[in-house]
Amino acid sequence: KYEKIWLIFGLTTLLIFLSVLGVSAFYLGNQPPSCLATINPEKVDTTKPFNKPGLKKVKGKAWDYELVFVASAFNYNPGEIEVPKGAKVKVIATTKDVIHGFEVAGTNINMMLEPGFISEFETTFDKTGEFLIVCNEYCGAGHHMMTSKIKVV
Ligand code: CUA
Repeated sequence: KYEKIWLIFGLTTLLIFLSVLGVSAFYLGNQPPSCLATINPEKVDTTKPFNKPGLKKVKGKAWDYELVFVASAFNYNPGEIEVPKGAKVKVIATTKDVIHGFEVAGTNINMMLEPGFISEFETTFDKTGEFLIVCNEYCGAGHHMMTSKIKVV
């Protein structure tokens, strides 16, 4: 009799676990939350806003600037950028080839750049200084040299 109770208990637990997994995988979409929009990785150079990487002031949005990065093996474009301190910035990035990382050292910005997807992150740079952008996804022979820099002034 006790075996039966435990069997039911075990099966119920398993069912709950599987349904939670199923909901998170299919209903919520099994992809990083920062990757919302899609892009043709072969047309990055001619697709807005990636045709003009860098910092752009915007109006009528919840953020003041858009900071656009294009990653490709083994660099970021721009390779260095100045950002005014205290400005609300939306970082928008994608990759032209393989998966790259986008980690801004000393901040909570850490994105994965996937071919075909646009990664976004809203942030405010409160501290002045130089922040190194590093690739934290192995992308090939030049992976360790792949960096850029955000200068908050
Ligand atoms: Cu790009 Cu590692």
